[in-house]
Amino acid sequence: MKNNLTQKIILAHLTKASEMKVGEEIYLKMDQTLTHDITAVMAYLAFEKLEIPRVRTQCSVSYLDHNLLYVDHKTPDDHIYLQSIAKKYGLYLSRPGNGICHSVHSARFGIPGKTIMGSDSHTTSAGSIGMLSFGAGGMDVARAMAGLPMRFQMPSIVKVNLIGKLNPGVTAKDVILEMLRRYGVKGGLGKVFEYVGEGTQSLEVPERLTITNMGAEMGATSSIFPADDVVRRFFKAQNREKDFVEILPDQDAQYDEEVTIDLSQLQPLVACPSQPDQVKTIAEAPKVKVHQVYIGSCTNASYADIKKAAMVLKGKKVHEDVQLTLSVSTRQIFKQLLREGIIEDLIDAGARITEIACGACTGIGQAPPTKGVSVRTSNRNFPGRSGTADAQLYLVSPEVAAATAITGVLTEAKDVMEDVSILARVKEPLSYVIDDSMMIKPLEDGRDVEIIRGPNIKPLPINDSPTHTLRAKVSLKAEDNISTDDITPANAQFSSMRSNIPLIAEYAYSRYDAQFVQRAKEMKTSIIVGGENYGQGSSREHAAITPMFLGVKAVLVKSMARIHKNNLVNHGVIPILFENPADYEHIDLGDEIEIKDLIEGLKKKEVTIFNQTKGNSFNGVLDLSDAEVNILLCGGQLAYIKSQLA
Ligand code: F3S
Repeated sequence: MKNNLTQKIILAHLTKASEMKVGEEIYLKMDQTLTHDITAVMAYLAFEKLEIPRVRTQCSVSYLDHNLLYVDHKTPDDHIYLQSIAKKYGLYLSRPGNGICHSVHSARFGIPGKTIMGSDSHTTSAGSIGMLSFGAGGMDVARAMAGLPMRFQMPSIVKVNLIGKLNPGVTAKDVILEMLRRYGVKGGLGKVFEYVGEGTQSLEVPERLTITNMGAEMGATSSIFPADDVVRRFFKAQNREKDFVEILPDQDAQYDEEVTIDLSQLQPLVACPSQPDQVKTIAEAPKVKVHQVYIGSCTNASYADIKKAAMVLKGKKVHEDVQLTLSVSTRQIFKQLLREGIIEDLIDAGARITEIACGACTGIGQAPPTKGVSVRTSNRNFPGRSGTADAQLYLVSPEVAAATAITGVLTEAKDVMEDVSILARVKEPLSYVIDDSMMIKPLEDGRDVEIIRGPNIKPLPINDSPTHTLRAKVSLKAEDNISTDDITPANAQFSSMRSNIPLIAEYAYSRYDAQFVQRAKEMKTSIIVGGENYGQGSSREHAAITPMFLGVKAVLVKSMARIHKNNLVNHGVIPILFENPADYEHIDLGDEIEIKDLIEGLKKKEVTIFNQTKGNSFNGVLDLSDAEVNILLCGGQLAYIKSQLA
């Protein structure tokens, strides 16, 4: 049988036989895991509870990369805890300053044809080197680290046929923005985008990473490129040729859908506020005055990205009303750029070089001013993502970002350069600087290592099993497209509270509905009602844990993002869909509801919701697998995993 790339990797990792029919439940072994400092503590608190002496993956890495602002004891407490966990349980630890998880992982750990699960939605970046990669919540990563197979619905596989070649000044960012323009933020649900065709040959691994990274913005299960000669060259340049494995789709492989992008027809694009699918050409975009330009993040801070930005800026100055903040994605690339004098060019132009970290991408430092306009090379532009609630975020390529920093309005590179064709000659190095000294290797035997828990490390809250009858009030009625950022904000202040659920729960929905926490506490047991695409955005499981901690037993919505649904199930919060979305109008804030025979309803995957306040009733459906139902019946994933390991 002819298989595409995704099917080949799935076949090699199935733990139960499957016909790989779209929508069928499949179980896959995970070869690798990654976590980062913001999501990690919950994952490892859960892993500790499993009482397994050592991770059961081929390679697990804990990255300290997101929050490196040590403004008080909280983040250093987390980092010391994570370092002791890595030592005890056999993980690699990437120290602060080594680089952003996805960029480092593809360069130094990833292996084509393997699977990886990470507690970050952009783990899909590893598709750039031909890995099948998934973002998930920390509880799922704990499960993967325990060596248990991960459950998925067999995705539909979309062939993205790339033809032609990008023109100078047009970039990989424009390829994924074009995909977002076509598919929208929900268009990737249940899909793996497999990029093939002659156009892939001109895209180097970091460019491919930009594309697979932002597949997450379409809600895609994953995105992947073949492990071909381009990837082989990357591995050689990383002095890892021995880890390279060629893996290509079979000739004439079948796909569920097909789309073609002619790279030569693309123009520089921008995602306008406040969704990554609000895509326009630079020429069509509003001529707003720009206050901040941020070049960085896992999406677009590779060697070639920064070098091209420096070429646009060379010999020019950043506009006096613009702050240009720039952070390189890894220490490896920073050293390379230093040696070539590129960092000096950037400083000469007026760039502020900040730490090698996620930082500004997720609102940890470098917030724009009130109502400010920030032009960014990162991947998300939800309100509040930058740390300033009313800032307007535009997402662009590094070349457009650099040109914009010079003029103070959205500008293409060709409009500030005499010869834009020189950008096309920038290539990744033939050999990178190799220095893994900021990576702490696992111990052979960590049994005697003591786990260090500072005061910021609080126990993981555990949910109860569901009762036969659920009586609750509606503590929140939300609209469409509620993001995990709306539920649990993600800036410096909140990131350092993630290990301390009682504290961070005080801020649940604080930007969306300042009364929610007080109301939920008074109600004691409540449900949340929402619209379409509830829980979109990052894989942040705190968006499930904090409502659970405040007594939320169920979330009743029109539709829901995949990772968030998993996180709710993992923490024993029941995700219910309106059978008829119009019933959203028949339930309001404060209404008292009753669901009888809940246990039976879970098993049948349908419930009747009585709205006692309004005197009406309507049906809810549970779009859940049998395994997910069993997890909910246990009260959450932790109790379920323990029952499987017993
Ligand atoms: Fe970090 Fe932003 Fe990427 S938070 S992992 S740089 S999406």
